[in-house]
Amino acid sequence: MDGNLPLSDHCVVVTGGASGIGAATVQALTAQGSHVVIADIQQEAGIALAESLGPRALFCKTDVTREEDIVAAITTAERHFGPITGWVNSAGVIGAVGSIMETTVTAFDQTMAVLCRSVFLGIKHAATAMKAHGGGAIVSVSSIAGLMGGLGPHTYTMAKHGVIGLTRSAASELSALGIRVNAVAPGGTVTPMTAALTGGDSALISEAIRSASPLGIACMPEDIAGGILYLLSDAARNVTGHTLTIDAGITTCTPQMGFHTDSPQVLLHAGQRSDQEPQQA
Ligand SMILES: NC(=O)c1ccc[n+]([C@@H]2O[C@H](COP(=O)([O-])OP(=O)(O)OC[C@H]3O[C@@H](n4cnc5c(N)ncnc54)[C@H](O)[C@@H]3O)[C@@H](O)[C@H]2O)c1
Repeated sequence: MDGNLPLSDHCVVVTGGASGIGAATVQALTAQGSHVVIADIQQEAGIALAESLGPRALFCKTDVTREEDIVAAITTAERHFGPITGWVNSAGVIGAVGSIMETTVTAFDQTMAVLCRSVFLGIKHAATAMKAHGGGAIVSVSSIAGLMGGLGPHTYTMAKHGVIGLTRSAASELSALGIRVNAVAPGGTVTPMTAALTGGDSALISEAIRSASPLGIACMPEDIAGGILYLLSDAARNVTGHTLTIDAGITTCTPQMGFHTDSPQVLLHAGQRSDQEPQQA
């Protein structure tokens, strides 16, 4: 293989494509020869990205919480580039934060609309369009917060678990139509979303992500885009209902307790010094 995935002449809609992981996916897809519609609410950034990529990319102002906008994004893609073969749900926000006891129903509903209703609408309408043309591939961006608790705010965590659930459920129905449905679960990634947590300081968030990473890598949007392109491509033709974790090893372990060294911290926590022989039961 020459490093290129077989994605030339595909037509892919990328929600949230104006920024971060979505933008990196748009860039990688056009570099592989795909046509891409950037479906995002950020008009200025979306148009600028599309113009920088030339005739293979197009911006379509889309609020992913609105069904009519999702339908319009598909119509736009098909009018300009032909039948859609791929759909990526990457639009997202951190949404409601704070204690479960203080989270308002309004904040909960708004967060779920951007993170979950959007994915439902994307899969629903992408599948309808793909069914008419013999199949396709859909990839949604979940999160490692969709795999366990404590890695994101409550509503975000619930929503990202939901994305993985719908990925499995939709995959089980749509396989018969030649439509594959997969997800990626990124760990902390250096994007405007995470940079906002440090007041927009990318260097600071990059170092925070790198130092929390077992591999010692600050995950970049391109790292996630690589996984998305794999799942969209025919290289993954036998893969559906899968969630690909791309997290530099964060979910391989709880915070390092030293089990893989000679002095496991867990024994110290249990009141035993690391230079003592383990006690016999
Ligand atoms: N950055 C991370 O550490 C990380 C980790 C795991 C998962 N994710 C997920 O990756 C996805 C992309 O996030 P990112 O980090 O690239 O963030 P980002 O802020 O760079 O990009 C998110 C994009 O979504 C768009 N968007 C937000 N609400 C929208 C709406 N209603 N309609 C249309 N577009 C909308 C924004 O305009 C923006 O362009 C999200 O689903 C996020 O939850 C991110």
